[in-house]
Amino acid sequence: MPAELACFEERCRARFPVTEIIYNCPRCGGLLETVYSAAEGSAAEWKRTWHERRASNAPLDQSGVWRYRELIGFLDDYGPVVTLREGNTPLLEAPRAAAYGGLDRISFKHQGFNPTGSFKDNGMTCGVAQALRVGARRVACVSTGNTSASMAAYASAAGLDPVIFIPHGNISFGKLAQALEYGARTFQVEANFDHILALVRQLAERLGIYLLNSINPFRIEGQKTIMVEMMDQRDWRVPDWVVLPGGNLGNTSAFGKAFREMLQLGLIDRAPRLAVIQAEGAAPFYDLCRAADRSRLSAVPHPETLATAIRIGDPVSWPKALHEVLASGGLVEKVTEQEIADAKAVIGHCGIGCEPASAATLAGIRKLTAAGTMRADADVVAVLTGNLLKDPDYIHRYHTGELRAPDGSALRSTFANAPVVVAADANRLASLLG
Ligand code: F0G
Repeated sequence: MPAELACFEERCRARFPVTEIIYNCPRCGGLLETVYSAAEGSAAEWKRTWHERRASNAPLDQSGVWRYRELIGFLDDYGPVVTLREGNTPLLEAPRAAAYGGLDRISFKHQGFNPTGSFKDNGMTCGVAQALRVGARRVACVSTGNTSASMAAYASAAGLDPVIFIPHGNISFGKLAQALEYGARTFQVEANFDHILALVRQLAERLGIYLLNSINPFRIEGQKTIMVEMMDQRDWRVPDWVVLPGGNLGNTSAFGKAFREMLQLGLIDRAPRLAVIQAEGAAPFYDLCRAADRSRLSAVPHPETLATAIRIGDPVSWPKALHEVLASGGLVEKVTEQEIADAKAVIGHCGIGCEPASAATLAGIRKLTAAGTMRADADVVAVLTGNLLKDPDYIHRYHTGELRAPDGSALRSTFANAPVVVAADANRLASLLG
C-alpha cells in the first residue's frame, strides 16, 4: 500500500515522498498527514486476519498496533520495527463511574495498560520505526511527560539516542523517572511546553535531530490503532460517543482519521461523535470551537492545570482536530480542577484508576449528561490515556485533603480515603474496624 505525505490544508494538499524529513508542508506550512493509495483486500478478510493474529507468537502480530498493519502501511518492510507489545489495552466496564457520569453504562479504553503506561506507546512504535527507516541516529521530543517516557523507551530499545525536553517543575515525578531510567538525555527547560516546542523545532533542523512530537505524522498513524483495536474488541459495533482528553490534540486528530479511514474501507458504516474534554485553565480548543471565527486559535499564554499532561496553551494539531470534531458531529467541553479530581477518585474506586488528565473524560461526561447533551442511554467509550501510577503525589494529596489548585485555592476531597496511622495494638485496630 504505497504511502505519501500530504498537506492537511484543503487549499494546498501538496504531496511529498513518505521518506522526506518534514513536519510541516514546505509549501504552505500546513500540518502533514500520511495518505495511502487503494488498499488490497476486503473489510471481511482484514477482520478475520486481525482476529487470527491474536493467537500468533510473532512479535508484529502480538503488537496491538502492528496487528492492524494493513491500515498503517507507510513502511516498505517491517525490519526497522521495534515493538514492546504496545496496545492490547482492555475495554473495561465501570458501573460506578457510569452512575457518577449520569450514564446507564460506560466502558473505558484504558491506554494506561501500555508498556510505558500511556497511549503514547501506540504512536511511538511507528515514529521510531520511521526514524530508523530515514537513518536518524538521534531523536527528540518536547513533552509534558508521557511522550518523553515513551520515546525514551522505544528509542533506547531501538539503539537510538533519545533527547528529551520537559518543562522544569511541571511534570509528574513518575514520568521524569521513566525518562531517566530508560536512558534519555533529559533537559528540564525553564519555560512552558509551548515555548519549549517552538525552541526545539528550530534546534531540530540545526542539529539534524529527528522530531517525535505528535506533529510527526507517523505517530498519528500508530495512535489510530487505539480506535481500530477498540472497534475490534466491540466486534465492530460503533459507539455513539468516544470521549477523550485534549492537550496538544494529536489523539483527537488520530481518532478522527481512524474513523474516516475505517468508514472509507467499509470496516464500519457510521462514525461515533468525538467529545474532547479540556481542563478549564488550558482550554484554547474549547474557546476556538465556541468562537465565531474558527480560522485561527488564540493561544492561552499561561496554561494552568494540575493535570500536567494537558497543560498546553497552544496545541499544534488544532486544525486537524477541529476538522475531525466537526466532521464527527462532536463537541469540546471544559472541566474544573475540582471536577477532574473527583472524577479521578471515582475511576479509582472502580478498581481501574488513571492519571489526572484521563479523568477529565468522566468529569466531562457528567457535565454533558447533566446538560442533556449526552443521553443517559448513550453507548459511550471514554479513553483513559495514562496509568494511575504516573502521578501518585496528586493522589496522596487528594486523599489526605492537601490538594491545591494552581491558584493556591484548596480543592475539596469529596471522596477522601486517607490512610490511618495506628499503634501496633490489636484492640485498637479491632475497635477502629468496628
Ligand atoms: N492524556 C495524557 C495522559 C497525556 O499525556 C496527553 C498528552 C493527553 C492526554 C493529551 O493528548 O496531546 O494528543 O491531545 N501528553 C503529551 C506529552 C502532550 O507530552 O506527553 P493530546
